[in-house]
Amino acid sequence: MDRKKIVAGNWKMNMTYEQSVRLINELKKITNTNVEIKIAPSFTNLNSAIALLDSSSIEVIAQNVHFEQRGAFTGEISVEMLKSIGISSVIIGHSERRKYFNENDFILSKKVKVAIENSLSVIFCIGEELSEREKGNHFELIKNQIINGLFELNINQIKNVTLAYEPVWAIGTGKTAENFQIQEMHQFIRKLFEDKFGAEISKSMRILYGGSVKPNNAEEIFLLDDVDGGLIGGASLNFSDFNSIVEAANG
Ligand code: 13P
Repeated sequence: MDRKKIVAGNWKMNMTYEQSVRLINELKKITNTNVEIKIAPSFTNLNSAIALLDSSSIEVIAQNVHFEQRGAFTGEISVEMLKSIGISSVIIGHSERRKYFNENDFILSKKVKVAIENSLSVIFCIGEELSEREKGNHFELIKNQIINGLFELNINQIKNVTLAYEPVWAIGTGKTAENFQIQEMHQFIRKLFEDKFGAEISKSMRILYGGSVKPNNAEEIFLLDDVDGGLIGGASLNFSDFNSIVEAANG
């Protein structure tokens, strides 16, 4: 099955307003690509990013959302707020949210549900710590993250989810997983979806890889059978690297 590749830049807590405007104006030069390009700026830069990319095919997405619809939750951002400025996708379950903000599977499944039930698409992140891999627990752990986070969704809802496998030990470390490790995990993930939702869903499900994807390794990673693009951190913060990664996905 032909799955359109996605290259998504997760800017994390980087980029001031001016820096964000500058990078977006460069990104606007990317045309003629078969790749779905997304960027996830900080909340403060979402509005301006959307305005700047008004006539571009680059999609602006959010890095996080709260699981309640509205109310007394100081500092949080709701689905309704995101939708009201034109956001239609959100990243949920990033390992940094799990690790530094104690977002466990229960919280994440609530976030997924509120997003999906309100017509936001979700990029759901999963990934194991090095210690789990060293103990040989990585497949079990990923399976549990997926079951707990996503398997209460129905077949129509799951169509609005993209997976991102990001081994925690490869994030921001310059250490990429070996190609065989990426492919075997992506294949394992696809099989879980086949067993739960059937072959059609599983074949059309896009599974991104994230963790030190750079211009020099993107092409070989994107050539792996079950890899449908990348979630890019550090290398999404400058035009030249991000553009090279988009080109690598374009084939
Ligand atoms: P790096 O590309 O900086 O390793 O970050 C990956 C990531 O966490 C994307 O969400």
